[in-house]
Amino acid sequence: MDDAERFISPPRDPGRLRHVTLHEAGFAAEYENARLHVEAVSPGIARMRLAAGDFVPARSWDVLEAELPRPDAHVEAVEGGAVLALGGMRIELAGADGGLTVGGADGRRWLEQAGPPRWGRARLEALGLPHAEGDRLPEGRDGELLLQAWRLDSDDRLWGFGQRSGGLDRRGRLLSHWTSDTFGVGHHRGTDHLYQAHPLFMAAQPGRAFGAYLHVSHFSRFDAGNDDPDLLGIETLGGELDLFLFAGPTPADVVEQLTRLTGRPLLPPHWALGFHQSRWGYREGEEVLGLIDTFRRRNLPLDVVHLDIDYMRGYRSFTWDPERFPDPKGFVDEVHRRGARVVTIIDPGIKDEPGAGYAVADELLTRGYALRNPDGSPFRGFVWPDRALFPDFTRAEVRAWWGEQHRESLVETGVDGIWNDMNEPTAFDRPFASGAARNRPFPLGLQHGEASERARHVEVRNLYGTLEGEATYRALERLRPGVRPWVLTRSASPGSQRTSVSWMGDNNSWWEHLAMSVPQLLSMGLSGSPHVGVDIGGFFENAPAELFARWIELGAFYPFMRDHSALGTRAQEPWAFGPEVEEVARAALELRYRLLPYLITLAHQAAERGAPLMRPLGYVFPDEAATFDVDDAFLLGPWLLVAPATAPRQPGRAGVRPAGRRGEVG
Ligand code: GLC
Repeated sequence: MDDAERFISPPRDPGRLRHVTLHEAGFAAEYENARLHVEAVSPGIARMRLAAGDFVPARSWDVLEAELPRPDAHVEAVEGGAVLALGGMRIELAGADGGLTVGGADGRRWLEQAGPPRWGRARLEALGLPHAEGDRLPEGRDGELLLQAWRLDSDDRLWGFGQRSGGLDRRGRLLSHWTSDTFGVGHHRGTDHLYQAHPLFMAAQPGRAFGAYLHVSHFSRFDAGNDDPDLLGIETLGGELDLFLFAGPTPADVVEQLTRLTGRPLLPPHWALGFHQSRWGYREGEEVLGLIDTFRRRNLPLDVVHLDIDYMRGYRSFTWDPERFPDPKGFVDEVHRRGARVVTIIDPGIKDEPGAGYAVADELLTRGYALRNPDGSPFRGFVWPDRALFPDFTRAEVRAWWGEQHRESLVETGVDGIWNDMNEPTAFDRPFASGAARNRPFPLGLQHGEASERARHVEVRNLYGTLEGEATYRALERLRPGVRPWVLTRSASPGSQRTSVSWMGDNNSWWEHLAMSVPQLLSMGLSGSPHVGVDIGGFFENAPAELFARWIELGAFYPFMRDHSALGTRAQEPWAFGPEVEEVARAALELRYRLLPYLITLAHQAAERGAPLMRPLGYVFPDEAATFDVDDAFLLGPWLLVAPATAPRQPGRAGVRPAGRRGEVG
């Protein structure tokens, strides 16, 4: 059986190459059943598009930067084919067999097309795409899967792919892109997709690196050598292969090229680089003020407190509970008087209670801003406030309206930053009070977009958190001119780095998760999202004292440093484990604060060139083979080597000492 038939029926292919046309910055090829377009878009960045029919029209919510420096490229004809050369990269279409290769100016092949692309109607069950029983992929492009395999150099490590479990080199894995709450699943080595979806990677080996970004918001999957160790398979819904290629030649160059295309990371306000204390369960204003006083009294630095869902009135976003926070503005003023900042959580699931005096719900329905079922009725799912509606952030009008909701309840109250949660988006099948709530997949055919620009959920789900972040960030910018916004998000996709910082969601108080945070955050930085952190101490379960001590020591070097834990777990503030651990925490926090000028410098480098704050050794020493595969230690910026202890009773650890030449000091 043709392997493609596992995924598509019936598989089709481009057929014979008919002719090739050269353009100023690229070339186009016509096949019997397909068209190919290869084009230089900016120095070191090329775009390759292949589709059976017309290319997908540009979407208003697309993340690509509109203005890019013009490319410097060379195009020439070769024996019935063509070559595009730019920035040390050559993309060649060979004449007779029509095969594509991407390689270096030195003639080495980086990616070599392994057989023609195939496409056809996707077999949903074969994709591993989470969906409700009986749900189907929509007809047309949305249900069309394209497969393309590439031969890879066996020395290449595959880095990036955004938010992942497991080690830094993802070779050998199947990596899907579908934003998902991991409730009940957890973050295990084998967990495939988590909350974020970044269909991009960097292939790196000592001496060279290049990158690729699959510019598709639909569900997609990379087979990074799972099926065949020498092949990289790209599988994408949407019926088009739209691949950006980054010439490198160093990992730092690849990240620069990626973020030139998808947006440079935001510059956080300085306070956001300090320490954040959070807990699901701080209930009252008085408790939070007492918390800050305890930090001050114990001489523990603290910049930010986070308010989780209990500050709201019955989990209604943009409200305050009148008993626990009778005077929100007075409360925020008191926090500010103590020299700290307030961040409040916001959930996109809006309580479905029209006519009950909750204007957000009324407007969402009367203005028709909620996500709609295929039959046009509003989609409903259960979240914290029980039955909820979900705003459609693909629409600019809805984003503006959502942003405006922050004005009175949060911005005018003085809240400093916004924490966007549950924005994969997540819904459950029944109320939490039932004790049996389970994740409910959103129907793949839900309607998004204006009448003039419709899309189905299967196309835009991965962008939900990114577009919510965009709405929030722009609103904060508008409502508080001259002050840098700060937005934290759980779900994200390429482009989100412009407007949001992210954390890695609900981890556990396990040593494995402490260790995993290093490759996980390194991958995020290599994927263009440098401002990241995980919940220090772990979210679920009770942290043993030693684990917390080790975690806050490592956390002092996370770009975003927050202690957070779940409802019902034991206290996890720095003093909760007794004087010895408190002393460790104090030392870690003091070190963090001494590093602030350095962190601020690194944040500027990130905003200018995308450079991650946490860098793998191979990023800083790109020619040095000996340290290339280290993923349990890293450099903070170019200068500070961090080799954490991540196991119990670990007295010390072997040093990692790069000997080579530094490739990147900026
Ligand atoms: C989600 C978040 C977690 C938060 C909780 C309650 O599980 O990931 O950080 O504390 O919801 O809002």
